[in-house]
Amino acid sequence: MSFAIPQHVAFIMDGNGRWATRQGLPRLKGHAEGVKTVQRVLEQLAQYGVPYATFYAFSTENWKRGSEEVNGLFEMAQTYFTTDLATLVKNGVRLKFIGDRTPAGKLPLALRTIMDKAEKATAHNTKITAVFAVNYGARDEIARAARALAQQGVEATPEALEAALDTTGIPAPDLVVRTAGEQRLSNFMLWQSAYAELYFTDVLWPDFGNTHMQAALASFTQRTRRFGAVPEATATAEATEAKALSVAA
Ligand code: IPE
Ligand code: IPE
Ligand code: MG
Repeated sequence: MSFAIPQHVAFIMDGNGRWATRQGLPRLKGHAEGVKTVQRVLEQLAQYGVPYATFYAFSTENWKRGSEEVNGLFEMAQTYFTTDLATLVKNGVRLKFIGDRTPAGKLPLALRTIMDKAEKATAHNTKITAVFAVNYGARDEIARAARALAQQGVEATPEALEAALDTTGIPAPDLVVRTAGEQRLSNFMLWQSAYAELYFTDVLWPDFGNTHMQAALASFTQRTRRFGAVPEATATAEATEAKALSVAA
């Protein structure tokens, strides 16, 4: 099987709650199962040579959920980025976080400290960069970037804004995958996904396996990316046709 290999695949991991509810389990069990999918997907993409993968783990809107779920998610993240850190390091994973990590962002200090440490501990890894969006909202990210530029007295050109986003240095996602049937972005990478290919599947995140990932990559391989331009081949063919028509006339 051969695929076009994207530089960056981003995941809106959705359906953990439904997965758990369907089996009569508490929602947090679904999130725990979702963590296993992250690990699996990361290993698969690293094997394929995809250099960047982003996982939307907690949105700025997810604070609306019950405190038991919110705290459970944070605890799970703390465990993942400490106990699984050795495996991540062994697999050559470089960790990066995007989202509001300032004290004003209200993430627990323990989690923020763990995130800082995990980034430092994996900074020199080169196999794949795994970006986790925690307390992330695209509107919040853009507003924070705009505020930073204003404070520095820098004009908000697209280039300056882009460089002030949390994702600075990370290429824009080529492919955004959302699981669990919803076809929306839910405030995810609105700026960076301007020209991303979107892929939606009904599969719930805990069930998202290697074959589903392959299906997403197969779909990506079929896409023609134009970025607003007329593709070279079409332009040439049309020019030849126009010439032939003018000769016939
Ligand atoms: C995971 O899925 C997304 C997170 C916020 C961690 P959900 O928890 O949104 O699952 P559903 O949509 O309720 O099924
Ligand atoms: C998007 O999923 C957020 C994450 C995957 C972290 P949600 O389940 O929060 O999105 P909505 O509420 O269905 O739009
Ligand atoms: Mg959801």
